[in-house]
Amino acid sequence: MPTQAWFPTLIYHEPLLRSGVERFNTELAEECRRIRDYDAAGRRWSARNYPGGYTSYASLNQLHRISSTFAGLERRITTHVRRYARALDLDLRSRKIHLSDFWVNIMPEHAAHGLHLHPLSFISGTYYVVTPPGCAGLKFEDPRLDRFMAAPPKLAGARPANRTHVTHPAQAGHVVLFESWLRHEVAANRTPAERISVSFNYGWT
Ligand code: NI
Repeated sequence: MPTQAWFPTLIYHEPLLRSGVERFNTELAEECRRIRDYDAAGRRWSARNYPGGYTSYASLNQLHRISSTFAGLERRITTHVRRYARALDLDLRSRKIHLSDFWVNIMPEHAAHGLHLHPLSFISGTYYVVTPPGCAGLKFEDPRLDRFMAAPPKLAGARPANRTHVTHPAQAGHVVLFESWLRHEVAANRTPAERISVSFNYGWT
């Protein structure tokens, strides 16, 4: 084919650890639920802004500073963020990256998270803690969608790289990274069990 793919949108998806993640996630899930029980301000904020679910995004959003579990998770995630930054050819030789926000998301049945992006950071992502079978994945939107103007619709069988949306499955123990400008959403949880994830933003200096 006389065509090449330029300006790709790279999304990173890997297991956090090679082994031992089940026990780690069991403890992390307990801690996430304890945070929800403790965080009255976050529950009030979630009732207005995250209907049916709980997020500590606006209340306890630097969990790596107050929890040794989250501090340990930060170190492991940072390894993946550095690998992703290399794949993006970002020049971090004389620059430092840092985790700026780290928060919990708990989605019971019916909770959804609408389309959004992550301002004030360059790499964002999610680590999956509890993912009931059949729960919604992370759906990304083609960042050029507002520029397609008069383009015909895509074929139903379009190759994944040519589709306008792609959904990465939510898989406990896996980390998904994306550039912070990339809009994404999570469809409603249609399973009776809670879906638990932790999300984070990285900045650089
Ligand atoms: Ni997000």
